Amino acid sequence: MHRRRVRFGVIGLGLMGREFGSSVARWCHLIDDGPVPVVAAICDRNRQAWDWFTESHPDIRVKTDDYRELLAAREIEAVYCAVPHDLHEQLYTDIVRSGKHLLGEKPFGIDKAANARILEAIRENPGVVARCSSEFPYFPACQRLIRWLRTGACGRIIEVRTGFHHSSDLDLDKPINWKRTVERNGEYGCLGDLGMHTLHVPFRMGWRPRSVYADLQKVVTSRPDGKGGTAPCTTWDNAVLTCRCADSKSGAEFSMVVETKRMAPGATNSWFLEVYGTAGSARFSTHNPKCLELLSTSGGEQGWTSVATGSQSAVPSITGGIFEFGFSDAVQQMIMAFMYEISGRGPAHPFGTVTPEETAWSHELFTAALQSHRTGQRLPL
Ligand SMILES: NC(=O)c1ccc[n+]([C@@H]2O[C@H](COP(=O)([O-])OP(=O)(O)OC[C@H]3O[C@@H](n4cnc5c(N)ncnc54)[C@H](O)[C@@H]3O)[C@@H](O)[C@H]2O)c1
Repeated sequence: MHRRRVRFGVIGLGLMGREFGSSVARWCHLIDDGPVPVVAAICDRNRQAWDWFTESHPDIRVKTDDYRELLAAREIEAVYCAVPHDLHEQLYTDIVRSGKHLLGEKPFGIDKAANARILEAIRENPGVVARCSSEFPYFPACQRLIRWLRTGACGRIIEVRTGFHHSSDLDLDKPINWKRTVERNGEYGCLGDLGMHTLHVPFRMGWRPRSVYADLQKVVTSRPDGKGGTAPCTTWDNAVLTCRCADSKSGAEFSMVVETKRMAPGATNSWFLEVYGTAGSARFSTHNPKCLELLSTSGGEQGWTSVATGSQSAVPSITGGIFEFGFSDAVQQMIMAFMYEISGRGPAHPFGTVTPEETAWSHELFTAALQSHRTGQRLPL
C-alpha cells in the first residue's frame, strides 16, 4: 500500500532536532497505516549541523540558515521547531501564519506574554494544528498509569507529586550555555525548561492548579564561560511549587507538588508522576522505566505491587513486547501522536500531545510562581 508522505521542515538542528530526525528516519519501527513523516527541509544558523541530516535523510530539498526560506517552500506541510526560548515567539508565530502545522518545543514562548501572542496566531489560523512537545507520558508504564487513573481506581485524590530531576549541572566545571541565561532561556529558568513536561498528564486529567506557593532556588551563580573565564548563571536551578488542585469530576481539593530541579543529586533526566488516593495509589519514574508501582488501600495492611511492563506502546511497534522502551522511543511515540492529530485521527489516539491552551495554563502557573516566590505568598490562579 502506498502511504501518504507528510513533508516536514526541521528548524533548530541541535539536541532535539536530531532526536526528531532520528525518529522520522526509523518510522518503519512503528506499526501503523497512516501518513509517514519525511524530513524534506532543514534550517540552522550553524551550517555544520546540516551534514548529519543530509547523510540520513535523502528527501531533503531545502537547506538554509534563514527559516523564512524554509517557510516559503510550498511542499512543506509541517514544521518541528527546537530553538532557544527567546526565538519561540517570532518563529512559532511565523510558522503558524505560513499555514504549516507546528510541533514546537516547550515552554512555547519565553514568558506568558510571548505565549499569549503565539496562541493568538494559532487562533487566527484554525486550519493549522499546533502542539507542544512532551514525550515522557508515552513510556508504556506511564500510559498504563494514565489508563489506571481513568478507571477512577484511586478513589478520592489525596496528593499528586509530579516532577523532573536533573543532575548534570552538579558538575560545576560544566561550561555555561544558553539554558543558564535569563535572556535566552527566560525568567522561569528550570520551570520553563522542565515544567511543561511535569504538567502534561495533570492538565489532561483535569487537574489545573487553583493556587500556587513557590519556593525557587539559585544554587550555582557562575560557571566557566568556555573561554578561560567565568560567566554569571542567572536562571533558577530548582523549583518546588505547592499547588491546590480540584478533581474535575468531584470538585474535591487535593495538593499537587511540582518539582523541577536541575540540581538533584542522583537523578539523570528522571521524570516522575505519583498519585496517592483513598482507594489506590500509583507511581512511575523514568529512573526505573519498566516499572509501574500500584497500591490498593482497603483499610488493612498495605503493600506496593511492582508491575514490570514491556514495550507495549500507545501505537504498537515491531519491538517484542518483553523488550525495553527508552527516551528515543518516547519521542517517536510523541511524533506519532502529532501525526494522528495533523491527519484528523487525533481522537483515535489514547493520549494527545500538549495543546496550546495547556501551554498557556503552564505559563499562568509559572508566572504566578515567580510572583509567589517574590512576595512569599500563596497566589490564587
Ligand atoms: N522535549 C525535550 O525533552 C527537550 C529536551 C531538551 C530541550 N528541549 C527544548 O528544545 C528546544 C531546543 O533545545 P535544544 O536542547 O535542542 O538546544 P540546542 O542548543 O541543542 O539546539 C538549538 C539549535 O537551534 C539553532 N538555532 C539558534 N538560532 C537559530 C535560528 N535563528 N535559526 C535556526 N536555528 C537556530 C542552534 O544553532 C542549535 O543548533 C528548547 O525549546 C528546549 O527547551 C526539549
